[in-house]
Amino acid sequence: MHFTILTLFPEMFESVFSSGVISRACEDGLLSINTHNIRDYSQDKHKIVDDRPYGGGSGMVMKPEPIAAALKDVGGVDENSKVILLSPGGKTFNNEIAKELSGHEKLIFICGRYEGIDERIKEKYVDLELSIGDYVLSGGEYAAMAIIDSVARYIPGVLGNEDSVVDESFSSGLLEYPQYTRPEEFEGSSVPEILLSGDHKKIDDWRRQKSIEKTFAKRPDLIDRNILELDDINTVDSLKRKLKKNSNLYIALVHYPVYNKQFNVVKTSFTNIDVLDIARAGRTYGVASFYLVHPVAEQQDLIRTVMEHWTKGKGYEYNTSRKESLEYTYISESLEDTIETIEKTEGVRPKIIVTDARYSDKMTGYLEMRETIENDPNPFLLLFGTGYGLIKEIIEGADYNLKPVVGSETFNHLSVRSAASIILDRLCGVKI
Ligand SMILES: C[S@@+](CC[C@H](N)C(=O)[O-])C[C@H]1O[C@@H](n2cnc3c(N)ncnc32)[C@H](O)[C@@H]1O
Repeated sequence: MHFTILTLFPEMFESVFSSGVISRACEDGLLSINTHNIRDYSQDKHKIVDDRPYGGGSGMVMKPEPIAAALKDVGGVDENSKVILLSPGGKTFNNEIAKELSGHEKLIFICGRYEGIDERIKEKYVDLELSIGDYVLSGGEYAAMAIIDSVARYIPGVLGNEDSVVDESFSSGLLEYPQYTRPEEFEGSSVPEILLSGDHKKIDDWRRQKSIEKTFAKRPDLIDRNILELDDINTVDSLKRKLKKNSNLYIALVHYPVYNKQFNVVKTSFTNIDVLDIARAGRTYGVASFYLVHPVAEQQDLIRTVMEHWTKGKGYEYNTSRKESLEYTYISESLEDTIETIEKTEGVRPKIIVTDARYSDKMTGYLEMRETIENDPNPFLLLFGTGYGLIKEIIEGADYNLKPVVGSETFNHLSVRSAASIILDRLCGVKI
């Protein structure tokens, strides 16, 4: 892989890349780093490379002709090169970008100075603008050094031990676990005992747990539930619950077993708007998790695609709050599975609360239910039915059966998402 740097200060790179991992990789022929002085491409007899900005203002701007000439000379217009401009206005560099860039044959970096470079270079030659953070450096050289170092680590063979990149912070979407080395005792603190146990399975589990705890505490934005395993999700959830008010209330939208109009037991289809709206309500009222119960794999795939659209895809770029609401939403195969997952997390089986549009004997009012949930630290699972409601067996087997939500009319056909919002507000909303 070839790194080419266009700069006004090539000497800055000499010492930086003449030691450590990068210098060894250059010696081994795994990569090459060449610098070119933009000033050498100036046609001006005084080798001028900057000029005053059109429209006035402070500082100087780098002229386009020397940069264009340098780019043409180093192959910047070739198909196999990617031209990167270092700029505070660029996309913020991260590990994902580093990994992607390591797959290219040749990267050419343009290091700006002064007030930056003439805009027309960006329009005509630049493939990607990168920033290394929301602060202003006096030159792109510092940014180029950081980016090259990070990209090079992904080139096979550059790091002695290939596992190093896999284990490191960000690679798994998590920060790295804490590391210790000799001595065992340092200024009164000792190395965690488990690391001395020699039990590799236990050490791996401990490290994973610490990684999650550290990421949760320092960079919760990095936690991507889609790549976490169920046990990790449980860890994240229990950490979250420690901080949340309505942390012992779980909710589920049940698509099977429910009744249809004729009171046959059926499976209903997912309804996009119900899923998204109940997820938002759940997030608003601080429920621990929202489960979508459906036994059919195709239906699960469908709703997963919808959720990914809002958590990762175009939808996320458009509306980031949907992602936040869906962070607590999981797909579950059956009601029993849902109950078991909660039991595994909480260490105790949740009490079941059902909701129904019909009256039956022994129903619980909202105030009483609210107080019960608030005063009992154990988990509760509140079920919402789809179709014509939850089947008799679920209703009769529940610990609590909430009274129906009623209005002033005999007409009573609320959508499940409306009922869910009203019920959550009564059980967890701010008392006004
Ligand atoms: C003083 S800065 C120019 C700042 C520019 N006037 C602005 O306000 O956006 C000079 C050069 O440093 C580089 N630079 C500054 N901050 C950077 C950052 N956060 N990431 C990448 N490059 C940066 C760019 O190449 C930039 O052209």
